[in-house]
Amino acid sequence: MNILVTGGAGFIGSNFIRWMKQHAPEHRIINVDALTYAGNLESLRDIPQDASYVFIRADIRDRAKLDEVFSQHDITHVVNFAAESHVDRSIVDPELFLTTNVLGTQALLDTAKLHWKSNPEDKYSREYRAGVKFLQVSTDEVYGALGREGLFSETSPLMPNSPYSAAKASADLVCRSYFETFGLPLNITRCSNNYGPYQFPEKLIPLMIHNCMEEKPLPVYGDGMQIRDWLHVFDHCSAIFAVLIRGEMGEVYNIGGNNERTNLEIIRQIIHSLGASEELIHFVKDRPGHDRRYAIDNSKITTRLGWTPSYTFEQGISETIRWYQDNEEWMEHVLSGAYTEYYARMYAPSFRE
Ligand code: NAD
Ligand code: TYD
Repeated sequence: MNILVTGGAGFIGSNFIRWMKQHAPEHRIINVDALTYAGNLESLRDIPQDASYVFIRADIRDRAKLDEVFSQHDITHVVNFAAESHVDRSIVDPELFLTTNVLGTQALLDTAKLHWKSNPEDKYSREYRAGVKFLQVSTDEVYGALGREGLFSETSPLMPNSPYSAAKASADLVCRSYFETFGLPLNITRCSNNYGPYQFPEKLIPLMIHNCMEEKPLPVYGDGMQIRDWLHVFDHCSAIFAVLIRGEMGEVYNIGGNNERTNLEIIRQIIHSLGASEELIHFVKDRPGHDRRYAIDNSKITTRLGWTPSYTFEQGISETIRWYQDNEEWMEHVLSGAYTEYYARMYAPSFRE
């Protein structure tokens, strides 16, 4: 396979490239990333550029560039990670989320359709080159929020609550339409919250680890009793590969590890592991439209594709904390001036309240 990985300099994309190098090195990876604040080549410093791995700086909305990449590298598979991914930022700049996450995905779908169609001149033809596939990496957030009971299944209604999740849900629907109308071979995966190495420290777990290490306040939104279903990023990577290889065309697969925790439980676990003080906890104003609970029914991917997560949360979180302790230099490098300004804008008013 010649796999176009978009957003491969971000958190999950860089871990996916590393996972592929370890578990399926026979495939070529072409990593296209615009290197926004969230994309960092330092996260790939152990992956040499050679015949089996190429990095190209490009925006997924740039159709001319995508066309060139498909032609030059004979792309047979796409794994689309590229996105604006942070809910808090989507509240500040929704338009960026819509253009990147929706129109960027559509530009990729159009390029794949053009290059993979057996007869691109015939608009009604549904014949494609053998063995090609487009995999859209989506999120459980498209389903909205759960109450105390229940799980998201692949047939749960799409009820996104943030501009981020609305953009991801829109991209999912565009993908669905390309399967139904054009027969483009594709899958959509919807995963729960990931944690692990190389995650940008604006997301809950790396932010709390970093702040504990620096003895800075830990900003807890609202009452901290929101629930997320946490999965180690390597388990997400193995699930994506299972869907890429064995997923039935047109199907959606939820990915999750049955590991629900409140935010406060996670934060306390990090505090105790690092020997920090609970006095660092600061309750701040809640995020508007904050989803109360996410939880995944993973029975479709486990029963139909035979995928199972390999990490327990205890193992995953302690390895992750150790990784951030051992990689302070990575953290320093990603914390550029732009990030510092964002952090000050986002959190300073809460701490002054
Ligand atoms: P991330 O923000 O760490 O990385 C996103 C990457 O996309 C960055 O490298 C960035 O430079 C790149 N990018 C952004 N806009 C681009 C553009 N226009 N063109 C090319 N590249 C662009 O995100 P992540 O946490 O690694 O998430 C990756 C994907 O997985 C996203 O689609 C996200 O919706 C989905 N997802 C994330 C989680 C999670 O917990 N992080 C869970 C489920 C699904
Ligand atoms: P986040 O990592 O932003 O992921 P998502 O919103 O996509 O689930 O946040 C995870 C949870 O942690 C969410 O309920 C919001 C909460 N949170 C805080 O309480 N404080 C913070 O500083 C951050 C970043 C998140």
